[in-house]
Amino acid sequence: MIIAVDGPAASGKGTIARRLAAHFALPYLDTGLLYRGVAHAMLQHGHDAGDAAQAFALARGLDVEALDDEALRTAQVGAMASVVAAMPDVRAALLEVQKAFAAKPQGAVLDGRDIGTVICPHADVKLFVTASSEVRARRRFLELQKRGEAIEESQVLADIQLRDERDQSRAAAPLVQAPDAVLLDTSNLDIENAFRAALAEVERAVLARTPKSR
Ligand code: DC
Repeated sequence: MIIAVDGPAASGKGTIARRLAAHFALPYLDTGLLYRGVAHAMLQHGHDAGDAAQAFALARGLDVEALDDEALRTAQVGAMASVVAAMPDVRAALLEVQKAFAAKPQGAVLDGRDIGTVICPHADVKLFVTASSEVRARRRFLELQKRGEAIEESQVLADIQLRDERDQSRAAAPLVQAPDAVLLDTSNLDIENAFRAALAEVERAVLARTPKSR
């Protein structure tokens, strides 16, 4: 079974996807980490945000085994990730690794922005997880604060709105709800209830696919 979970930053999609993967014992890929990995390398090398040739070279050489790094989770890396993610060559360079992950025999759970539309258009279940920008900014602010980042909540909200705009308006694989995705608004849900709602949708989709026995 392939489960595609898309949505904007801090919508809760990562936590939902990770918990669905654990529940169904499926491998899980946070595809945002791929773009964050490229962004982090761009920053480390001191490349300009708009340098598409360098971003492409770094995307092609990305070590996907080395993405479990707290340094990729900062606000600065997130903002740069949204810039490199708008570059078609960077997206093309990261396409195969994502498709290969989704092709695992037992299936997989992937989260990102274009999983249901581009990476796994034939996913068994597609969820589009969202929440108001204020709620998402609050969540991301608390997360960054916990990690010791000195940042104002108003700045986090401005960053989120800018990233939403960039992710939604880019020409290459923009953030958009797939027509066959189920919308899950987590604005008024804590993570437990958001997970339960997501699980209910997955179970509904699985039941709908199972041929009825006579
Ligand atoms: O989910 P995240 O915040 O870690 O993602 C970082 C950036 O990467 C985000 O601004 C958009 C981009 N991204 C993307 O374009 N496509 C994906 N499948 C995943 C992330």
